Amino acid sequence: MRVIVAKNAAEVGKRAAGIIAATVNREPSCVLGLATGGTPLDAYRELIRRHKEEGLDFSRVTTFNLDEYVGLPPTHPQSYRYFMQTNLFDHLNIVPANTHVPDGRSLNFETHCRQYEHRIADAGGIDLQLLGVGSDGHIAFNEPGSSLGSRTRLKTLTRETVEANARFFGSIDKVPRLAITMGVGTILETKRCLLLAVGEHKAAAVQATVEGPVSAQVTASALQLHQEVIVILDEAAARRLERRAYYDDVEQAQTLLEEGRFQELGIGNQS
Ligand code: GLP
Repeated sequence: MRVIVAKNAAEVGKRAAGIIAATVNREPSCVLGLATGGTPLDAYRELIRRHKEEGLDFSRVTTFNLDEYVGLPPTHPQSYRYFMQTNLFDHLNIVPANTHVPDGRSLNFETHCRQYEHRIADAGGIDLQLLGVGSDGHIAFNEPGSSLGSRTRLKTLTRETVEANARFFGSIDKVPRLAITMGVGTILETKRCLLLAVGEHKAAAVQATVEGPVSAQVTASALQLHQEVIVILDEAAARRLERRAYYDDVEQAQTLLEEGRFQELGIGNQS
């Protein structure tokens, strides 16, 4: 895992948007995996800015979202489809038919989840998957105890997640109890992952994700098995990392490599 610590939340968003934009520029018909929640909002704002001011082109991009509440229509202000429309898609030149979010109205769960997996495969797989992390270490809605090989499926939300989300619904009784979510196994098959975390309340989950044992109790820790993960944190979310100094050394070496400052890396000055 490559761990980058940025100054603050806005910088986390900018770094993340920079990586997403580079992917889109390099491969205009790329497939992006997208996430909801407060964490990616700064990155989405920056992508919108780059589209409007710099012409970043989404016309050939395909997207798949991680998850959706069961029981909410796409027009419900708390549905993840609505979130994606208002916070990103409506402001880009993306083709609506190329944006995929699980359908919260579908009661034919098994078929719908199987089809979602097939659509991802038919699109050629996800090139870059954006992820947030729950304060208990979950990714998407893969709550603690989720199989690390799981696929897109129906998931019962934990009481903690329901309580954490009650603030958006006005009352806890209105929070859906079920969600459709990509599985941990689905996420592990993506080509590259970009996990973002901001704030002190994520520090324990981040430490467990990056440095703890791989465990179904912290589903984000399964990313340790993924081929390429970039973790971008603000200072508060990075606070509990035990090997922080090493992550900073890696970033410094990476910068020197990119700038061709080989001597400072001890390359070429051996007799
Ligand atoms: C929900 C979402 C996750 C998200 C998490 C954290 O559980 N299903 O995808 O990462 O919340 O949300 P936030 O970014 O608001 O902290």
